[in-house]
Amino acid sequence: MSPFTLFILCLSVLIPFSGAVGLLEALRTSANAPRYADLIESDPALSAIFLDGKTGTVFAPDDAAVEAYLEDAARQLRPRQTAEEVRNNEFQAAESRHDIALLINFPGKVIETKWNGGLRIKGRGTPVVSEQDEESVEDNDSGNRTLRIRQLTNPTGPGVRLVSGFGKQVNIRAGDIPFDGGLIHRVDSFFTVPQTLSSTASQNGYSSFSDALEGNNLTSAFNEAILTTIFVPSNEAFAKFNGSINPSLLSNHIIPDFGGYLPELKDGATHTTADGKTLTITIKDRSFYINNAKIIQSNVILDNGVAHVVDSIISTAAPPPEFPGRAAGSYGSPIMLLTLLTPALIFWAFAV
Ligand SMILES: *[C@@H]1O[C@H](CO)[C@@H](O)[C@H](O)[C@H]1NC(C)=O
Ligand SMILES: *[C@@H]1O[C@H](CO)[C@@H](O)[C@H](O)[C@H]1NC(C)=O
Ligand SMILES: *[C@@H]1O[C@H](CO)[C@@H](O)[C@H](O)[C@H]1NC(C)=O
Ligand SMILES: *[C@@H]1O[C@H](CO)[C@@H](O)[C@H](O)[C@H]1NC(C)=O
Repeated sequence: MSPFTLFILCLSVLIPFSGAVGLLEALRTSANAPRYADLIESDPALSAIFLDGKTGTVFAPDDAAVEAYLEDAARQLRPRQTAEEVRNNEFQAAESRHDIALLINFPGKVIETKWNGGLRIKGRGTPVVSEQDEESVEDNDSGNRTLRIRQLTNPTGPGVRLVSGFGKQVNIRAGDIPFDGGLIHRVDSFFTVPQTLSSTASQNGYSSFSDALEGNNLTSAFNEAILTTIFVPSNEAFAKFNGSINPSLLSNHIIPDFGGYLPELKDGATHTTADGKTLTITIKDRSFYINNAKIIQSNVILDNGVAHVVDSIISTAAPPPEFPGRAAGSYGSPIMLLTLLTPALIFWAFAV
Protein backbone atom coordinates (compact mmCIF):
# COMPACT_ATOMS: atom_id res chain seq x y z
CA MET A 1 0.00 0.00 0.00
CA SER A 2 1.46 3.37 -0.97
CA PRO A 3 1.97 5.98 1.71
CA PHE A 4 -0.56 8.18 -0.07
CA THR A 5 -3.25 5.48 0.01
CA LEU A 6 -2.48 4.91 3.67
CA PHE A 7 -2.83 8.65 4.32
CA ILE A 8 -6.23 8.77 2.60
CA LEU A 9 -7.31 5.66 4.46
CA CYS A 10 -6.32 7.23 7.78
CA LEU A 11 -8.16 10.44 6.92
CA SER A 12 -11.32 8.60 6.00
CA VAL A 13 -11.24 6.83 9.34
CA LEU A 14 -10.45 9.96 11.34
CA ILE A 15 -12.83 12.43 9.74
CA PRO A 16 -16.08 11.09 11.18
CA PHE A 17 -14.54 11.32 14.68
CA SER A 18 -12.63 14.56 14.41
CA GLY A 19 -15.72 16.32 13.08
CA ALA A 20 -17.26 15.90 16.55
CA VAL A 21 -20.65 17.35 17.18
CA GLY A 22 -21.03 21.05 18.02
CA LEU A 23 -22.56 22.00 21.36
CA LEU A 24 -26.00 22.98 20.09
CA GLU A 25 -26.35 19.84 18.03
CA ALA A 26 -25.18 17.65 20.90
CA LEU A 27 -27.67 19.35 23.24
CA ARG A 28 -30.46 18.65 20.74
CA THR A 29 -29.54 15.03 20.12
CA SER A 30 -27.35 12.95 22.44
CA ALA A 31 -27.84 15.17 25.52
CA ASN A 32 -31.62 15.30 25.14
CA ALA A 33 -31.74 18.95 26.25
CA PRO A 34 -33.12 20.71 23.16
CA ARG A 35 -34.82 23.53 25.06
CA TYR A 36 -31.49 24.61 26.52
CA ALA A 37 -30.06 24.73 23.00
CA ASP A 38 -33.01 26.97 22.03
CA LEU A 39 -32.31 29.26 24.98
CA ILE A 40 -28.61 29.57 24.14
CA GLU A 41 -29.36 30.17 20.48
CA SER A 42 -32.05 32.78 21.18
CA ASP A 43 -29.63 35.36 22.59
CA PRO A 44 -26.25 36.51 21.23
CA ALA A 45 -24.90 37.06 24.75
CA LEU A 46 -25.70 33.48 25.72
CA SER A 47 -24.30 32.16 22.44
CA ALA A 48 -21.12 34.11 23.11
CA ILE A 49 -20.74 32.48 26.53
CA PHE A 50 -21.25 28.91 25.39
CA LEU A 51 -19.88 28.95 21.84
CA ASP A 52 -16.64 30.81 22.50
CA GLY A 53 -14.46 27.73 21.92
CA LYS A 54 -13.40 27.85 25.58
CA THR A 55 -16.26 25.87 27.09
CA GLY A 56 -15.13 22.55 28.55
CA THR A 57 -18.20 21.60 30.58
CA VAL A 58 -21.88 22.49 30.23
CA PHE A 59 -24.40 21.71 32.97
CA ALA A 60 -27.44 21.71 30.72
CA PRO A 61 -30.81 21.96 32.47
CA ASP A 62 -33.30 19.44 31.06
CA ASP A 63 -36.41 20.56 29.20
CA ALA A 64 -38.61 20.60 32.30
CA ALA A 65 -36.08 22.82 34.10
CA VAL A 66 -35.86 25.22 31.15
CA GLU A 67 -39.68 25.45 30.97
CA ALA A 68 -39.83 26.20 34.72
CA TYR A 69 -37.08 28.80 34.32
CA LEU A 70 -38.88 30.51 31.44
CA GLU A 71 -42.17 30.62 33.36
CA ASP A 72 -40.51 32.08 36.42
CA ALA A 73 -40.70 35.87 36.69
CA ALA A 74 -42.01 36.24 33.16
CA ARG A 75 -38.76 35.14 31.58
CA GLN A 76 -39.15 34.04 28.03
CA LEU A 77 -37.21 33.21 24.94
CA ARG A 78 -36.55 36.64 23.56
CA PRO A 79 -33.82 38.24 21.50
CA ARG A 80 -32.13 39.63 24.62
CA GLN A 81 -32.07 38.13 28.07
CA THR A 82 -31.62 40.56 30.94
CA ALA A 83 -28.13 40.97 32.32
CA GLU A 84 -29.14 38.96 35.38
CA GLU A 85 -30.46 36.12 33.23
CA VAL A 86 -27.23 36.08 31.23
CA ARG A 87 -25.26 35.78 34.47
CA ASN A 88 -27.54 32.96 35.61
CA ASN A 89 -26.52 31.04 32.53
CA GLU A 90 -22.83 31.86 32.82
CA PHE A 91 -23.08 29.84 36.01
CA GLN A 92 -24.08 26.72 33.97
CA ALA A 93 -20.77 26.52 32.09
CA ALA A 94 -17.12 25.99 32.99
CA GLU A 95 -13.96 26.42 30.96
CA SER A 96 -12.36 23.23 32.27
CA ARG A 97 -13.54 19.77 31.40
CA HIS A 98 -14.96 17.90 34.37
CA ASP A 99 -15.57 14.17 33.86
CA ILE A 100 -18.06 12.36 36.08
CA ALA A 101 -15.28 10.00 37.21
CA LEU A 102 -13.57 12.97 38.90
CA LEU A 103 -16.72 14.68 40.15
CA ILE A 104 -17.88 11.56 41.97
CA ASN A 105 -14.70 11.12 44.02
CA PHE A 106 -15.23 11.81 47.72
CA PRO A 107 -15.27 14.58 48.91
CA GLY A 108 -16.14 16.06 45.53
CA LYS A 109 -14.57 18.67 43.32
CA VAL A 110 -14.66 22.45 43.15
CA ILE A 111 -15.79 23.56 39.71
CA GLU A 112 -15.07 27.14 38.79
CA THR A 113 -17.86 28.29 36.49
CA LYS A 114 -17.60 30.96 33.82
CA TRP A 115 -19.17 33.50 36.13
CA ASN A 116 -16.22 35.54 37.34
CA GLY A 117 -16.80 35.92 41.05
CA GLY A 118 -15.20 39.37 41.13
CA LEU A 119 -13.17 40.78 43.98
CA ARG A 120 -15.27 39.06 46.65
CA ILE A 121 -13.66 35.73 45.77
CA LYS A 122 -10.48 37.19 44.32
CA GLY A 123 -11.57 37.02 40.69
CA ARG A 124 -12.04 33.27 40.46
CA GLY A 125 -14.96 31.64 38.72
CA THR A 126 -17.88 31.40 41.13
CA PRO A 127 -17.86 27.71 42.02
CA VAL A 128 -20.31 24.90 42.34
CA VAL A 129 -19.09 21.84 44.25
CA SER A 130 -19.79 18.22 43.36
CA GLU A 131 -20.78 15.62 45.94
CA GLN A 132 -21.70 12.00 45.81
CA ASP A 133 -25.40 11.54 46.23
CA GLU A 134 -24.99 10.95 49.96
CA GLU A 135 -28.26 9.20 50.60
CA SER A 136 -27.19 6.73 48.00
CA VAL A 137 -23.83 5.95 49.56
CA GLU A 138 -23.45 3.09 51.98
CA ASP A 139 -20.42 2.21 54.03
CA ASN A 140 -19.89 -1.50 54.27
CA ASP A 141 -17.65 -2.10 57.23
CA SER A 142 -18.10 -5.84 57.35
CA GLY A 143 -15.05 -7.20 55.62
CA ASN A 144 -13.75 -4.83 52.97
CA ARG A 145 -15.08 -1.36 52.99
CA THR A 146 -17.00 -0.83 49.80
CA LEU A 147 -19.12 2.03 48.67
CA ARG A 148 -22.33 1.18 47.00
CA ILE A 149 -24.15 3.78 45.03
CA ARG A 150 -27.81 3.10 45.19
CA GLN A 151 -28.81 6.25 43.33
CA LEU A 152 -32.05 6.57 45.23
CA THR A 153 -32.79 10.12 44.27
CA ASN A 154 -31.70 9.62 40.70
CA PRO A 155 -31.95 5.98 39.67
CA THR A 156 -30.71 6.47 36.13
CA GLY A 157 -28.03 9.07 36.79
CA PRO A 158 -24.39 8.66 37.73
CA GLY A 159 -24.97 9.43 41.43
CA VAL A 160 -23.45 12.92 41.52
CA ARG A 161 -25.03 16.18 42.56
CA LEU A 162 -23.76 19.74 42.58
CA VAL A 163 -24.24 22.27 45.34
CA SER A 164 -24.64 26.00 44.68
CA GLY A 165 -26.01 29.12 46.37
CA PHE A 166 -28.24 28.57 49.47
CA GLY A 167 -26.85 25.00 49.42
CA LYS A 168 -29.21 24.14 46.58
CA GLN A 169 -28.61 20.67 45.17
CA VAL A 170 -28.83 19.98 41.47
CA ASN A 171 -28.73 16.35 40.29
CA ILE A 172 -26.89 15.12 37.23
CA ARG A 173 -29.35 13.03 35.21
CA ALA A 174 -26.98 11.99 32.45
CA GLY A 175 -23.27 12.66 32.28
CA ASP A 176 -20.19 12.70 30.05
CA ILE A 177 -22.06 13.46 26.82
CA PRO A 178 -19.37 14.66 24.41
CA PHE A 179 -19.43 17.69 22.15
CA ASP A 180 -16.52 19.09 20.16
CA GLY A 181 -15.28 21.28 23.06
CA GLY A 182 -15.83 18.99 26.02
CA LEU A 183 -18.65 17.40 27.97
CA ILE A 184 -22.32 18.00 28.69
CA HIS A 185 -23.94 16.86 31.93
CA ARG A 186 -27.73 17.09 31.84
CA VAL A 187 -29.09 18.38 35.16
CA ASP A 188 -32.56 18.61 36.67
CA SER A 189 -32.46 22.29 37.57
CA PHE A 190 -30.55 25.58 37.30
CA PHE A 191 -27.90 26.44 39.88
CA THR A 192 -28.81 29.07 42.46
CA VAL A 193 -26.76 32.22 42.33
CA PRO A 194 -24.79 32.66 45.59
CA GLN A 195 -25.77 35.56 47.85
CA THR A 196 -24.38 37.21 50.96
CA LEU A 197 -24.21 35.37 54.27
CA SER A 198 -27.11 37.50 55.58
CA SER A 199 -29.47 36.63 52.71
CA THR A 200 -28.41 32.99 52.87
CA ALA A 201 -28.94 32.82 56.64
CA SER A 202 -32.37 34.36 56.31
CA GLN A 203 -33.37 32.13 53.39
CA ASN A 204 -32.12 28.94 55.10
CA GLY A 205 -33.31 29.77 58.63
CA TYR A 206 -29.92 30.08 60.37
CA SER A 207 -31.62 32.58 62.68
CA SER A 208 -29.67 32.05 65.90
CA PHE A 209 -26.37 32.65 64.10
CA SER A 210 -27.59 35.78 62.32
CA ASP A 211 -29.09 37.13 65.56
CA ALA A 212 -25.78 36.49 67.32
CA LEU A 213 -23.81 38.29 64.59
CA GLU A 214 -26.29 41.17 64.63
CA GLY A 215 -26.17 41.41 68.44
CA ASN A 216 -22.36 41.56 68.34
CA ASN A 217 -22.06 44.03 65.45
CA LEU A 218 -20.39 41.44 63.23
CA THR A 219 -22.93 41.13 60.41
CA SER A 220 -21.12 43.39 57.99
CA ALA A 221 -17.68 42.03 58.91
CA PHE A 222 -18.86 38.52 57.97
CA ASN A 223 -20.73 39.69 54.86
CA GLU A 224 -17.82 41.75 53.61
CA ALA A 225 -14.88 39.43 54.28
CA ILE A 226 -13.09 38.44 51.07
CA LEU A 227 -12.88 34.77 50.04
CA THR A 228 -13.86 33.36 53.37
CA THR A 229 -14.97 30.17 55.08
CA ILE A 230 -17.75 30.51 57.64
CA PHE A 231 -18.89 27.79 60.04
CA VAL A 232 -22.54 28.37 60.92
CA PRO A 233 -23.68 26.64 64.12
CA SER A 234 -27.23 25.35 63.72
CA ASN A 235 -30.08 26.77 65.82
CA GLU A 236 -29.92 23.57 67.91
CA ALA A 237 -26.21 24.17 68.53
CA PHE A 238 -27.03 27.59 69.99
CA ALA A 239 -29.94 26.16 72.01
CA LYS A 240 -27.69 23.61 73.75
CA PHE A 241 -24.78 26.03 74.33
CA ASN A 242 -24.53 27.34 77.87
CA GLY A 243 -21.47 29.61 77.55
CA SER A 244 -21.39 33.28 76.67
CA ILE A 245 -21.73 34.36 73.06
CA ASN A 246 -19.30 37.19 72.41
CA PRO A 247 -17.47 38.70 69.43
CA SER A 248 -14.34 36.63 70.04
CA LEU A 249 -16.28 33.37 70.10
CA LEU A 250 -18.15 34.28 66.91
CA SER A 251 -14.95 35.37 65.16
CA ASN A 252 -13.59 31.89 65.71
CA HIS A 253 -16.24 30.70 63.24
CA ILE A 254 -14.67 32.48 60.28
CA ILE A 255 -11.42 31.70 58.45
CA PRO A 256 -10.41 34.75 56.46
CA ASP A 257 -8.63 34.52 53.14
CA PHE A 258 -9.41 30.85 52.59
CA GLY A 259 -11.97 29.25 50.27
CA GLY A 260 -12.68 26.17 52.34
CA TYR A 261 -15.11 24.44 49.98
CA LEU A 262 -15.37 20.87 51.29
CA PRO A 263 -12.69 19.35 49.00
CA GLU A 264 -10.26 22.03 50.27
CA LEU A 265 -10.64 20.90 53.90
CA LYS A 266 -7.85 18.38 54.50
CA ASP A 267 -7.59 15.91 57.36
CA GLY A 268 -5.26 17.25 60.04
CA ALA A 269 -4.93 20.72 58.48
CA THR A 270 -5.03 23.74 60.75
CA HIS A 271 -6.41 27.19 59.95
CA THR A 272 -6.31 30.50 61.78
CA THR A 273 -9.59 32.23 62.59
CA ALA A 274 -10.33 35.94 62.42
CA ASP A 275 -9.73 35.95 66.19
CA GLY A 276 -6.26 34.44 65.74
CA LYS A 277 -7.11 31.02 67.16
CA THR A 278 -6.35 27.67 65.52
CA LEU A 279 -8.95 25.28 64.13
CA THR A 280 -8.08 21.69 63.24
CA ILE A 281 -9.89 19.74 60.53
CA THR A 282 -10.55 16.05 61.16
CA ILE A 283 -12.10 13.70 58.62
CA LYS A 284 -13.48 10.43 59.94
CA ASP A 285 -15.88 8.03 58.24
CA ARG A 286 -16.63 10.63 55.59
CA SER A 287 -17.63 13.21 58.21
CA PHE A 288 -15.79 16.50 58.69
CA TYR A 289 -15.06 17.94 62.13
CA ILE A 290 -13.83 21.43 62.96
CA ASN A 291 -12.32 20.98 66.43
CA ASN A 292 -15.31 19.64 68.37
CA ALA A 293 -17.99 20.52 65.81
CA LYS A 294 -19.27 18.28 63.00
CA ILE A 295 -20.33 19.60 59.61
CA ILE A 296 -23.98 18.70 59.04
CA GLN A 297 -24.60 20.70 55.85
CA SER A 298 -21.72 21.42 53.52
CA ASN A 299 -20.92 23.70 50.60
CA VAL A 300 -23.52 26.41 51.03
CA ILE A 301 -21.90 28.67 48.43
CA LEU A 302 -21.74 32.38 49.33
CA ASP A 303 -20.87 35.32 47.14
CA ASN A 304 -17.75 35.75 49.29
CA GLY A 305 -16.81 32.12 49.84
CA VAL A 306 -18.55 29.21 51.48
CA ALA A 307 -20.51 28.32 54.62
CA HIS A 308 -20.78 24.94 56.33
CA VAL A 309 -23.41 24.32 59.00
CA VAL A 310 -22.00 22.68 62.17
CA ASP A 311 -23.77 20.87 65.00
CA SER A 312 -22.01 22.67 67.87
CA ILE A 313 -20.53 26.01 68.74
CA ILE A 314 -16.83 25.65 67.91
CA SER A 315 -14.64 25.69 70.98
CA THR A 316 -11.02 26.68 70.44
CA ALA A 317 -10.25 25.23 73.87
CA ALA A 318 -11.58 21.79 72.93
CA PRO A 319 -9.14 19.54 71.13
CA PRO A 320 -10.30 17.85 67.93
CA PRO A 321 -12.08 14.57 68.59
CA GLU A 322 -9.85 11.54 69.02
CA PHE A 323 -10.90 8.53 67.01
CA PRO A 324 -9.61 5.04 67.57
CA GLY A 325 -6.90 4.21 65.08
CA ARG A 326 -5.94 7.75 64.25
CA ALA A 327 -3.10 9.54 66.00
CA ALA A 328 -4.14 13.09 65.18
CA GLY A 329 -1.73 14.87 62.89
CA SER A 330 1.07 12.34 63.42
CA TYR A 331 1.87 11.97 59.73
CA GLY A 332 1.96 15.73 59.39
CA SER A 333 4.84 16.27 61.77
CA PRO A 334 8.34 16.49 60.23
CA ILE A 335 9.77 14.21 62.93
CA MET A 336 7.20 11.54 62.15
CA LEU A 337 7.85 11.90 58.43
CA LEU A 338 11.60 11.49 59.05
CA THR A 339 10.94 8.41 61.18
CA LEU A 340 8.92 6.91 58.37
CA LEU A 341 11.48 7.80 55.72
CA THR A 342 14.62 6.76 57.60
CA PRO A 343 14.49 3.02 56.81
CA ALA A 344 14.00 3.87 53.13
CA LEU A 345 16.93 6.30 53.22
CA ILE A 346 19.20 3.75 54.90
CA PHE A 347 18.19 1.13 52.36
CA TRP A 348 18.90 3.55 49.55
CA ALA A 349 22.32 4.47 51.00
CA PHE A 350 23.33 0.80 51.09
CA ALA A 351 21.92 0.11 47.66
CA VAL A 352 24.17 2.78 46.05
C1 LIG B 1 -20.78 -6.11 52.78
O1 LIG B 1 -19.66 -6.86 52.36
C2 LIG B 1 -19.77 -8.26 52.54
C3 LIG B 1 -18.43 -8.90 52.16
O2 LIG B 1 -17.87 -8.35 51.02
C4 LIG B 1 -20.94 -8.80 51.71
O3 LIG B 1 -21.09 -10.18 51.91
C5 LIG B 1 -22.22 -8.07 52.12
O4 LIG B 1 -23.29 -8.46 51.30
C6 LIG B 1 -22.04 -6.57 52.05
N1 LIG B 1 -23.22 -5.91 52.60
C7 LIG B 1 -23.84 -4.91 51.99
C8 LIG B 1 -25.01 -4.35 52.70
O5 LIG B 1 -23.46 -4.49 50.91
C1 LIG C 1 -10.48 -7.56 50.37
O1 LIG C 1 -9.50 -6.97 49.55
C2 LIG C 1 -8.34 -7.77 49.36
C3 LIG C 1 -7.32 -6.95 48.57
O2 LIG C 1 -7.94 -6.07 47.69
C4 LIG C 1 -8.71 -9.07 48.67
O3 LIG C 1 -7.56 -9.88 48.50
C5 LIG C 1 -9.75 -9.79 49.50
O4 LIG C 1 -10.18 -10.96 48.82
C6 LIG C 1 -10.95 -8.90 49.77
N1 LIG C 1 -11.87 -9.56 50.69
C7 LIG C 1 -13.19 -9.61 50.47
C8 LIG C 1 -14.01 -10.30 51.52
O5 LIG C 1 -13.72 -9.11 49.48
C1 LIG D 1 -19.59 48.01 64.44
O1 LIG D 1 -18.57 47.49 63.58
C2 LIG D 1 -18.07 48.42 62.66
C3 LIG D 1 -17.04 47.71 61.80
O2 LIG D 1 -17.61 46.60 61.19
C4 LIG D 1 -17.44 49.60 63.39
O3 LIG D 1 -17.02 50.56 62.46
C5 LIG D 1 -18.48 50.22 64.33
O4 LIG D 1 -17.87 51.22 65.11
C6 LIG D 1 -19.06 49.16 65.25
N1 LIG D 1 -20.15 49.72 66.04
C7 LIG D 1 -20.24 49.52 67.36
C8 LIG D 1 -21.44 50.13 68.02
O5 LIG D 1 -19.42 48.85 67.97
C1 LIG E 1 -22.36 23.68 80.49
O1 LIG E 1 -22.26 22.53 79.65
C2 LIG E 1 -21.15 21.69 79.95
C3 LIG E 1 -21.07 20.60 78.92
O2 LIG E 1 -22.19 20.55 78.11
C4 LIG E 1 -21.32 21.16 81.37
O3 LIG E 1 -20.20 20.34 81.67
C5 LIG E 1 -21.41 22.31 82.34
O4 LIG E 1 -21.68 21.84 83.64
C6 LIG E 1 -22.53 23.27 81.96
N1 LIG E 1 -22.51 24.45 82.80
C7 LIG E 1 -23.60 24.97 83.33
C8 LIG E 1 -23.41 26.20 84.17
O5 LIG E 1 -24.73 24.52 83.13
